[in-house]
Amino acid sequence: MAKKDTSFFCKECGYESGRWLGQCPGCKAWNSFVEAPAASKSKSGSGTARVGFSGNPAGFGGIPAPVNLNSISLESEERISTGMKEFDRVLGDGIVPGSLILVGGDPGIGKSTILLQTCRNLADAGRKVLYISGEESLKQIKLRAMRIGEFKRDLRLLCETSLDRIETVLEQEKPEIAVIDSIQTMYREDIDSAPGSVSQVRESTNLFLKIAKGLGIAVFLVGHVTKEGTVAGPRVLEHMVDTVLYFEGDRYASYRILRSVKNRFGSTNEIGVFEMKENGLAEVANPSEYMLNGRPKGASGSVVSCTVEGTRPILVEIQALVARTNFGMPRRTAAGTDYNRVNLLMAVLEKRLGLSLADYDAYLNVAGGLSVSEPAIDLAIVAALISSRCDFIPGDGLIVFGEVGLSGEIRAVSQPQTRIAEVAKLGFTECILPKVSLDGLRAPGGIRLIGVENVAELFQALK
Ligand code: TYD
Ligand code: MG
Repeated sequence: MAKKDTSFFCKECGYESGRWLGQCPGCKAWNSFVEAPAASKSKSGSGTARVGFSGNPAGFGGIPAPVNLNSISLESEERISTGMKEFDRVLGDGIVPGSLILVGGDPGIGKSTILLQTCRNLADAGRKVLYISGEESLKQIKLRAMRIGEFKRDLRLLCETSLDRIETVLEQEKPEIAVIDSIQTMYREDIDSAPGSVSQVRESTNLFLKIAKGLGIAVFLVGHVTKEGTVAGPRVLEHMVDTVLYFEGDRYASYRILRSVKNRFGSTNEIGVFEMKENGLAEVANPSEYMLNGRPKGASGSVVSCTVEGTRPILVEIQALVARTNFGMPRRTAAGTDYNRVNLLMAVLEKRLGLSLADYDAYLNVAGGLSVSEPAIDLAIVAALISSRCDFIPGDGLIVFGEVGLSGEIRAVSQPQTRIAEVAKLGFTECILPKVSLDGLRAPGGIRLIGVENVAELFQALK
C-alpha cells in the first residue's frame, strides 16, 4: 500500500502530528485536529522560502558568504508612511519595504477598510500599490472606496484567489506594496485541501514570504480571527511574518484599537486608536481624552489610572461596583483586564487590609474598551474596589498607578516620568504612586505626588 501523504494539523495553532490526537499538545485545544496533506517540500516549503532573504552576497558555488557587521550600510533603510500617524506608529514608524505584515481581527472590525484607506494614501503619494481581494467583488470594493472618500490617483485592484496566478501578477506588476484580503481565501491548486485550512494558509504565507523578500514587496496579509481568538487555522502565520497587528475593540462601539503583538521593526504592544465613522476610520490623536470621555464626576468606584502601551502613556478609567450579594456565592466579573488578577487583588485586600469582601459581589470594568494587562493598573483596581466598598468618593483630579504585590506592598512601575507628564497634560492635580518610583521624579507644576508603600497607606490616602 502506498504511504499516505497526509498529516494531522491542529486548527488552532497549526501543530503537526503523524496521527489524530484528541487534545493538541501545543495549545491544549480539544478536538481540533484535522487531516490535511503534509507540507509540500517541493515548491515553496519553508526551506526554499528563505531564498532571496535580504541580499547576502553569494560566495563560490552558491554558498553564502558571511559578512562583517560594520560593513552593512543602513542607507537604503527607508520607511514608507501609510499617511496615518496612528498606523505608522504601530508599524514602528512606517512600512518597511519587503516586509510581511499580518493584520488580524474579528470579521467586520475594519481590516479591509483600514487597508483600503492605506492603499489610497499610498497611491496618492505616488506609490505603486496592488490591492488583491479574494473576498469581495470589484464592485463591492468600489462601493467601499466611495465611502472612504476621494482617490486622487488610480489604484490597481485584482479579484483573485489562486496563488499561482497572484504570483505571476505580482512578478509582472512589481508593486511596492500589496494587500492580500484575506489569507484564508487563498489557495494553491497543487494542495488538495480547502482554502482556509491549515496547510493552505501555511503554504500561502510561505509563498508571500518568498515574494516579499525576493521581490522587495511589502505585503499586508489580512487574517480573520476565529471565536477562540487566533487567526483561523494558523498561529503558524504569526511566527512566519515580520509584524503581527491585531484589531481590538467592540464591533458595536465606534473605537478600534490596532495593537502590534509582534514587530521585527519596532516595539511591540504599541497601539493606534481609530474611530469608525461614516466615511471610514478616523485617527484618534489623543486617546487619553477619548478613553476618559463620559467619566462620572463624584461617583464612588471610579478611579483613573495611567498605563503605558508600547511607548505611549494612556489614561484609563477603572470602574468597580461592590455590592452586597443576595446569594451564598458572590459573583465576580472583570472586563478589560485579567479576571484572576482581580480575584488576587481582592484576596490581598481581605488579608492585608482586613476589608471583608466575602459577602460582596464585585464587578470590575476598564471603561473605554481598552484591554489592559499591565500590572501598573493594580493600584487603581484596588483603589476602585476600596472606593466602591467603603463609599469613598475619589477627587476629580486624582490619578492612581502602581503594582500591588502579594504582601500588599506597592511596587515600582516602569517609566513613571512619562506617565506623570501625560497625567499633567490632562490636568490632573493629585497622583498616588509607588513611593519607590518617587526617586528622581520631577513633578510638573500644579500636581501633588503622594507616594505609598502598601495598601494600608493607599487606604489612608483615599480616606
Ligand atoms: P470591514 O473593513 O469590511 O471589516 P473586515 O474587513 O475586518 O471584515 O468593516 C466593515 C464594517 O465597518 C461594517 O460593519 C461597516 C463599517 N463601516 C463604516 O462604519 N464606515 C465606513 O466608512 C466603512 C467603509 C465601513
Ligand atoms: Mg474584509
